[in-house]
Amino acid sequence: MDNFTSDLMLDEATDFLSKITKNPRLESEVLLAKILDKEREDFYKSNILVDAATYQHFRNLLKIRHQGKPIAYIVGKKEFWSLSFKINEHVLIPRPETEYLVECCLSLMQETNSYKLLELGTGSGVISIALAKENPNLEITAVDISLKALELANENALSHNINNIVFKKSNWFENITEQDFDFIISNPPYVDKTQLTKKEMINLKYEPEIALFSMDSGKSALLHIIHKSHLFLNQGGTLITEHSYNQKEFCQNQMQKQGFINIKTFDDLSSHPRVSMGSKSNYG
Ligand SMILES: C[S@@+](CC[C@H](N)C(=O)[O-])C[C@H]1O[C@@H](n2cnc3c(N)ncnc32)[C@H](O)[C@@H]1O
Repeated sequence: MDNFTSDLMLDEATDFLSKITKNPRLESEVLLAKILDKEREDFYKSNILVDAATYQHFRNLLKIRHQGKPIAYIVGKKEFWSLSFKINEHVLIPRPETEYLVECCLSLMQETNSYKLLELGTGSGVISIALAKENPNLEITAVDISLKALELANENALSHNINNIVFKKSNWFENITEQDFDFIISNPPYVDKTQLTKKEMINLKYEPEIALFSMDSGKSALLHIIHKSHLFLNQGGTLITEHSYNQKEFCQNQMQKQGFINIKTFDDLSSHPRVSMGSKSNYG
C-alpha cells in the first residue's frame, strides 16, 4: 500500500502512545499536524491521504516520543496563555500552572497603567510576553542567565510583535541597575533534585537542569530572590513568585523576615499552594 490516511495513522499512533502518555490522541494529532503542516482541526474536517515517506517520518517521530522526549521539544512549540511559543531544549517547557502566576500579576494591575516590571529567569519569555500582550504599557525587563534562552525569548517576543520588553543576561539581580520596579515576578528553579523518584527524574531529563533544580532542597534561588527583591522594588512594590506545593511556609517566612507586608499564597487549579506574593512596606 503506497498511501495512508490520517484517520488510520492517528488510530495506530494513539494506540502506540497510550502506554506512555495520558493524552495519546492529542499528541498524535499534534505530531501529524506538524508533519503535514496542518492544524489539528483539519483531521476532523477530512480524512487526509498521506504518502509512504511521510508515514515513515511520522512513525520515526512517534518512536522518539515513545522513548520519552517531550512533545513540545519534538514539534518545537508550546501553547501558553493561548499564544504559541517556539520552544527548544535550552528552555523549560512552560507549564500550565505558570499561567496562574500571570493571572495573579494581572489581578494586581490597573488595566492600562504603566508599571515597571522585572522578570527573573524568563526562559522562553512566556510570562513577560503574556503580560506584555495584556498590557502594552508595561515597561518590562526580563533576565536570564542563559544566553540561548534569551535568544529564544527575543525571537518569541518578535513573533508576537512585542516591543516593551528588554531582555538582558543577568545572574539574578547582578546586572540590574534600576531599583524602582513596581513588580518583580519569577518562576525560578525550585525542584529539589534529591527528592525525585526515578520516574520523575526520567520525565525531566530533557529539560535544562539550570531551569529546574535549585540547591538547599530546591530553596536556594527562592531565598536569593526573596532576600534581594526589596532592594529593587519601589515602596509598595510587589514580589510575586511561583514555588513548589511544599514551599509555601518557607516563602512566607522569608518574606516576613525581609519586612514584606500583605503576604499571601494562592493555590493553583489542583489546589496546590503555588504562588506567593508580598509587598514592600511604604516605610521599608
Ligand atoms: C523554571 S524556569 C522558568 C522559565 C520561564 N519563566 C517559564 O516560566 O516557563 C527558570 C529559569 O531561570 C533561569 N535561571 C536559572 N538560574 C538563574 C540565575 N542565576 N540567574 C538568572 N536566571 C536563572 C533558567 O535559565 C530558566 O530559564
